[in-house]
Amino acid sequence: MEILIRPTAADVATQAARILAHYAREGATLGLATGSTPVATYQELIRMHREEGLSFAQCRAFLLDEYIGLPREHEQSYYRTIRREFTEHIDIEDANVHSPDGLLPDSDAAGRSYDEAIQQSGGVDIQLLGVGTNGHVGFNEPGSSLASPTRLKTLHPQTVKDNARFFDSADDVPRHVLTQGLGTISRARHLLLLATGEGKAPAVHALAEGPVSAHCPASILQLHPHATVIVDEAAARDLQESEYYRYADANKPSWQRH
Ligand code: F6R
Repeated sequence: MEILIRPTAADVATQAARILAHYAREGATLGLATGSTPVATYQELIRMHREEGLSFAQCRAFLLDEYIGLPREHEQSYYRTIRREFTEHIDIEDANVHSPDGLLPDSDAAGRSYDEAIQQSGGVDIQLLGVGTNGHVGFNEPGSSLASPTRLKTLHPQTVKDNARFFDSADDVPRHVLTQGLGTISRARHLLLLATGEGKAPAVHALAEGPVSAHCPASILQLHPHATVIVDEAAARDLQESEYYRYADANKPSWQRH
């Protein structure tokens, strides 16, 4: 795992956008996350599109997850959120932005067909990830199988609490989601996880330095051949090897610099 510690959340976004821009230039298949963390990265990519001509016209995108039962046009559906925050502002074809269908009555079939669609597209080249305060990625809550496919999951009460800020009240947060599984996420060729703020510090320590375990689903990054974790100083607070990560980052061979 490559762990990059940057001074601020804005620096995390700049670095992440630089990495994603490299893939966009190749016409890659992008795996997109929602939530607060990637918003600044999306804003930087939108700026690069407007001011530097960065094009996404050859790209495809797959979202990590979707609430079950929320109409697509609901302001908080991830279908709407990713368009509002990112893809409406760049030149990717809307038909090439895919998300799990949280309205299909048979969620097992919906999960299977989403995994098939990802595979048929040639797979995800770079998967952007946030991490929950409880260590979830996508909505693979603690206890998720490390090999899981896209499927229905019940949100952890902590996640409902964390996401209540996007809704009028915690009661309005849907309790179920269709999420890419940890097996699905692991098939992406490059995993790029971002975390900012001290609320994420325990999860960052657990995912990078704790055991690989269903208790911390984000720890699957330790098993991945190409995983990059970018955190700000606040989220890096609990890392025990932070001095070594900084040293390795500063002494990277030139061909490994982003
Ligand atoms: C969102 C997702 C979640 C979030 C995580 C962190 O598509 O899959 O795993 O990445 O809950 O959310 P924020 O960034 O809001 O702290």
